Amino acid sequence: MIVTGATSGIGRAAAERLARGGATVVLACRDAQKGDAAAVAIRAATGNSAVRAMTCDVSSKESIDAFAVEFQRRFDHLDVLVNNAGIMNPRRKLTPSGIEETFATNYLGAFILTHALLGALRASRQGRVINVSSAGHRDLSRIPFDDLQLVQNYSGVRAYNLSKAALIMFTYTLAEKLADARITVNALHPGIVRSNIWPGELLYLRIGSALCKLIAVSSDKGADNTVYLATSPEVAGVTGKYFHGLREKRSSRITYDRAGQQRLWDLSLELAAIPAAL
Ligand SMILES: NC(=O)c1ccc[n+]([C@@H]2O[C@H](COP(=O)([O-])OP(=O)(O)OC[C@H]3O[C@@H](n4cnc5c(N)ncnc54)[C@H](OP(=O)(O)O)[C@@H]3O)[C@@H](O)[C@H]2O)c1
Repeated sequence: MIVTGATSGIGRAAAERLARGGATVVLACRDAQKGDAAAVAIRAATGNSAVRAMTCDVSSKESIDAFAVEFQRRFDHLDVLVNNAGIMNPRRKLTPSGIEETFATNYLGAFILTHALLGALRASRQGRVINVSSAGHRDLSRIPFDDLQLVQNYSGVRAYNLSKAALIMFTYTLAEKLADARITVNALHPGIVRSNIWPGELLYLRIGSALCKLIAVSSDKGADNTVYLATSPEVAGVTGKYFHGLREKRSSRITYDRAGQQRLWDLSLELAAIPAAL
């Protein structure tokens, strides 16, 4: 199993619980030292020696591609891919390849990594892709296709919500494209969870964060539905769904728009420079 962004928060908690269940777990982390430290701690806490960190910066196609090559050199199949890594940037920043960083990290990275690992997922008896989205996607009234990277009208929350809506649309499209492939693809909202993601830089975000933290649950609790979707036989055949807690729920209206899903898919292939393989 692979968990991206497993150095803290929900990803760290999910990786530990999956390891406790006996899985071989790869922590895909952008910072090698933090990744190694998390792997050491999880091995010690669970007694599972099959936990290791590998470097993967999901905001970088080069890093993802190198990770996927190395993963497939070491392992002959992949049962579970948890696309969990995420950020919220109060101010607009670009990656070295010129893509808005929230979009690159929270959405495009999952799109590229999943494509890069399809061979390994297909080699599993039953592959599962789990996309950690957010209920915040509901606050987005439309996908700004003419300005996906929010050059015109950036806010940290808007960029975050857009990336999470895109991740759900990707989930639905991919699930359909893989319908015959023994690979399930689902998205989830983990709840409001105490973690490092809440930025403290801008006042309105500080106030929002403080309010959220009043009702937030632990990272371990936030990992509940990730672990459920990764391991439960109950959801072995469930695909193309959005989960809130352990229940399927409808996501926002715009995420079901078929033309929008296809448009996003095509734009993502283009941005990621991936040939139309599916
Ligand atoms: N917390 C909530 O209330 C909440 C609600 C809804 C959805 N979510 C989603 O849950 C997921 C996990 O977030 P969290 O709350 O657990 O936050 P967190 O504690 O900040 O964890 C985020 C993880 O993502 C990693 N990451 C960030 N950018 C990365 C990159 N470019 N490449 C690889 N890893 C990267 C971070 O690594 P570093 O240690 O290197 O920074 C960290 O391990 C996110 O997708 C978030 O949007 C959270």
